Amino acid sequence: MRKLFLVIAVILLVGLTVGFYPGWVEKPVKDGTGPMAIRLDPGVVAPEYHSPLDWWQKHHMDAVNRGDLAQTDCLYCHQPETSCNNCHRYVGVTVIGR
Ligand code: HEC
Ligand code: HEC
Repeated sequence: MRKLFLVIAVILLVGLTVGFYPGWVEKPVKDGTGPMAIRLDPGVVAPEYHSPLDWWQKHHMDAVNRGDLAQTDCLYCHQPETSCNNCHRYVGVTVIGR
């Protein structure tokens, strides 16, 4: 009887651990789902300096910080809250203002 109780207790513990284990963390993904998803008006076309996009994702800060491009011009297509700051908050970078 006691052994059966122990077995049930162990199964319950393992089940709760697996069930509540925080394995899935949301990331700011382009066209993803959830509040962190990066969204842009599908009507706007990406400018040439975004290409290749994975290079731009890593180097856009250099273009802005160096002054090659003005940050206010980014906001012509980008809404800061839905396509800058959701990623910036995730990585812990300064938030973009209006
Ligand atoms: C003419 C409109 C336009 C302008 C201006 C613009 N963007 Fe974009 N941007 C886009 C579009 C459209 C995409 C999505 C590209 C795609 O999905 O291939 C994008 C994607 C990005 C991404 C990648 C997002 C991701 O997670 O994949 C970053 C970062 C970005 N832009 C930063 C900037 C910055 C910084 C500026 C200003 C220097 C800027 N953009 C100016 C239209 C624009
Ligand atoms: C997909 C993620 C992502 C998106 C979307 C994104 N950024 Fe960034 N941004 C970063 C990362 C990561 C850094 C920091 C890189 C580092 O410090 O090495 C950064 C840094 C910057 C910096 C330099 C900040 C500093 O303190 O030096 C500027 C300016 C900037 N981003 C502008 C923008 C603008 C404007 C947009 C929206 C148009 C945008 N970013 C969208 C990831 C992103």
